[in-house]
Amino acid sequence: MDTLRIKGPARLSGAISVSGSKNAALPLLFGSILFDKPVVFENVPRLWDIETTLSLLASMGAQSEWNKEAARVTIWPTITKREAPYDLVRRMRAGILALGPLVAKFGEARVSLPGGCAIGARPVNFHIDALKQFGVTLDVEEGYVVAKVRGQLKGAHIVFPQVTVTGTENILFVATLAEGHTKIENAACEPEVVALGEMLRACGAKIAGLGTPVIDIEGTSLSQPPGPIVISPDRIETGTWVAAAVATRGHLTIRNTDASKLSSVLDAFRAMGTEIRVPDPSVIEVMPGNNFLPIDVQTAPYPFFATDMQAQIMTVACLAKGTSRVRETIFENRFMHVAELRRMGAKISVRRNLATIEGPVQFKGAPVMATDLRASASLVIAALCAQGTTQISRIYHLDRGYQRLDEKLKALDVDVERVKE
Ligand code: EPZ
Repeated sequence: MDTLRIKGPARLSGAISVSGSKNAALPLLFGSILFDKPVVFENVPRLWDIETTLSLLASMGAQSEWNKEAARVTIWPTITKREAPYDLVRRMRAGILALGPLVAKFGEARVSLPGGCAIGARPVNFHIDALKQFGVTLDVEEGYVVAKVRGQLKGAHIVFPQVTVTGTENILFVATLAEGHTKIENAACEPEVVALGEMLRACGAKIAGLGTPVIDIEGTSLSQPPGPIVISPDRIETGTWVAAAVATRGHLTIRNTDASKLSSVLDAFRAMGTEIRVPDPSVIEVMPGNNFLPIDVQTAPYPFFATDMQAQIMTVACLAKGTSRVRETIFENRFMHVAELRRMGAKISVRRNLATIEGPVQFKGAPVMATDLRASASLVIAALCAQGTTQISRIYHLDRGYQRLDEKLKALDVDVERVKE
């Protein structure tokens, strides 16, 4: 497992370009199952999770071609096996996104339960309960969800007990091809859900209310996508670069992004005293700051502060003068980065889902361990501010969601090295 060695302190100044969004790409790639002819995707990020998704599709019989330089993926959705195997789904819980398209297209699926992960149990009961309302019978056998449709899928009235991003995405797939009307209440409003809905609408789906908590769908048939499906910029990668620029007091221009998709994140950093300019909707300019104000932030479903940015802003809060509070309301165990940040000098106390941060501290380089995707990003930010060298182990977590972060850092003159173990 590779380790990232970073020598701090660094100051991120210059310009970087954001890659395509992991969380937008995954549902769209699984959506290729709905079609009969080849589907082309552009601006696809080079991530392990994309690799895993293409392997999952290949295990079902779909061939794919990935031109990594051109960031283009072509999928020939010749599905011969309606199963998503455990050894791949356990690597990437988003493999559950095979369930909706397989049920919608073929009326049957055998998809491994994803199992838990570092940030929580992350069950899929909302997905299963919602599918049952379309007339799908679902049983759990040997760790697999076995789904079967008797006759025709029928539209349903779904009320999710809690906002679920991939749960909403799975239901969008099924409702699009079900007979009659579906209403989803407490639907996820994340931009990635909207992007999926807009792709389906471009293929003839009748969907209203995307981006709001109530989505109405009239079942219909789908035509082939009219052209390549372009993956939108990664709003969490963008937010991570903003956090790193703020933390290192750098002057960073972030290109190829969409500032409108992370307003609550930009507002939080502005509330900490940072000047952030948006000269163009696709450009964010972080101005060098000098002292940070403490912040109270609570994660919540979009459009509020993203849980996927919680670890990153916690690192910045360690540098603020005073007491900051971070409350995590989405996942029950998403403070795994706290212990590692403490090893670098952070003063953070945790009580249930509330972290209290005392600052400012001066981070010191240390050997630390990545535990999950966004926690590893928070450790990189701390390492950039630290005095001395930090070794971050298990950075496959980072590679799952950030395209060649070490190379992008190196291009900003950071003293960083990937050490293969
Ligand atoms: C998506 O995960 C994202 N992943 C996550 O990003 C993100 O953190 C999360 O949404 C919340 O925004 C992808 O889009 C691939 P949920 P998802 O269903 O859909 C509970 C990253 O860093 N729940 O919205 O799996 C669940 O345990 C990843 O890129 C149930 O209890 O999350 C959690 O507490 C991490 N039963 C909450 O709801 C269910 O059936 C929200 O989960 C489903 C969810």
